[in-house]
Formats: sequence, C-alpha cells, structure tokens
Amino acid sequence: MPKKLSILVIGASRGIGLELARQSLADGHRVIATVRHDAARETLQALGAEVLTLDVANPASISGLAWQLDGEKLDQAWYVAGVIRRPDALTPPTQQDFDAVMHTNVLGAMQALPQVAPLVADAGGVFAFLSSSMSQIASVPGSDAWLYRTSKAALNMAVAAAQHSYPGATLVTIDPGWVQTDMGGGSAPLTVQDSVRGLRSTVAGVTDADKGRLLHHDGRRAAHW
Ligand SMILES: NC(=O)c1ccc[n+]([C@@H]2O[C@H](COP(=O)([O-])OP(=O)(O)OC[C@H]3O[C@@H](n4cnc5c(N)ncnc54)[C@H](OP(=O)(O)O)[C@@H]3O)[C@@H](O)[C@H]2O)c1
Repeated sequence: MPKKLSILVIGASRGIGLELARQSLADGHRVIATVRHDAARETLQALGAEVLTLDVANPASISGLAWQLDGEKLDQAWYVAGVIRRPDALTPPTQQDFDAVMHTNVLGAMQALPQVAPLVADAGGVFAFLSSSMSQIASVPGSDAWLYRTSKAALNMAVAAAQHSYPGATLVTIDPGWVQTDMGGGSAPLTVQDSVRGLRSTVAGVTDADKGRLLHHDGRRAAHW
C-alpha cells in the first residue's frame, strides 16, 4: 500500500493549488492547505483538507506559519501562491505593482522557506516552489510580464541558494506549463488537471541531482535558468 504523505499546499484556494490539494486528497494523502478567505476554507474542508489562514504578502500573517505547523513533518510542501502583472518593459512598474508581485512571489517564499524547510527536512521530503518558464534568463522571447519574469527569476535564485542551508530537504522550483486557470486564461493549452498530474509525478520522482534546480511539469529538467 502506498505511504500516506503529509502535504502542505500554500495558496490552495483556486487554480493549481486547489487541484494539488484535490488530487492529493483523492490519493489518500493528508493535506494541510492555506487560504486567505472563508469561502475557500469551506471548499477545502469539504474535500477533507486541514485548512490554515495565511496571506503570504502580509509579514505579520506569514511570520506565524511555523507556529501553525508546530510539530509537523512534511513529506511535501508546495509554495503555489503567486500573482502576475502583464506590462512589458516599455512601462515602468508602479511601486504598488512591484510590491504586490515581489512580496507575493519572492518575499513570501523567502519568509515561508526557513519556517517550512526544517519540517520538510525532518521527513526527508521535497519543498517545491511554483516558478515559470518565463523565469529563464537563457531563453527570453520578449519583455511581456516584465515584472513577473523578474520575480520568478529571483525565486529561482532564492531556492537554489537556500538549498545549501537545508541539506536534508530537496528544494526545487517547478514550471507548471501554461495552464487554464484564472492566471493562465482560457487559451492555455494545458488543463489544470493534466498540469497538476505532471507536477505531482515530477516531484514524486526527484533525486538528489535535482536539488535547487528548476524542473518542468512534464519531468524535463531545465538546462539553464
Ligand atoms: N497558470 C499558468 O499558466 C502558470 C504558468 C506558470 C507559472 N504559474 C504559477 O503557478 C502558481 C499558481 O498559479 P495559478 O495559475 O493557479 O494562479 P491563480 O489561479 O491566479 O491562483 C493564484 C493563487 O495564489 C493565491 N495567492 C495570491 N496572492 C496570495 C497571497 N498574498 N497570500 C496567499 N495566497 C495568495 C491565490 O489566492 P486567493 O484566491 O486568495 O487570491 C490563489 O490561490 C503561481 O505561482 C503562478 O505564478 C502559473
């Protein structure tokens, strides 16, 4: 019988995070899911998740995460929370957009990491951070979503650097592909179900050679990022 895993999903109210929680619960695993709003709390509780309230862009909220997870050992943790802004490099980012994107996609991840990685290391588990192919400096086709690209490139570095401080855990960034969610939109080629099946299978198959790297949902390893 497959082992029942303890899985944390940070940012599970909708999209990829909700589907990660749904598929993990359907496979019999224990899921601790974080949300910002009560409506999402009810949806996740109905699916069987344990639900925590967390706003990753609010330092007062995220600084209490370790306390909320006291005593846990996590086989998997997923940092999924993210926001995007679309303007290209012809437009300077506003302070408000810069703060929203960088606080959610980078600062929140860097504040969650030292609180969660020790719990992942205790289980010899994997901490995966949702990044994007748009983070890859070696292949940049345009400057659309300039700020978002920058935030995900920073996230890749934060995770690759942090890997050295948590040798007992495997830290990776992972690109879900272009996915039909509120962020990805209806023209995206991948359903959220297919993307998440790929994300879960890729994370289930990580090895020590993947530590600190950017992976893709279909199992490809990024050669450069
Ligand atoms: N969809 C794609 O094509 C695609 C491609 C590459 C990478 N990604 C990445 O994959 C991740 C998930 O994307 P998605 O497509 O599922 O996006 P989505 O449908 O827009 O969902 C975003 C999720 O992030 C949560 N979130 C945003 N700000 C938060 C905050 N301050 N605190 C806590 N949670 C917060 C949202 O919660 P609320 O409901 O409370 O707002 C929601 O659960 C993101 O990191 C994204 O950058 C997506």
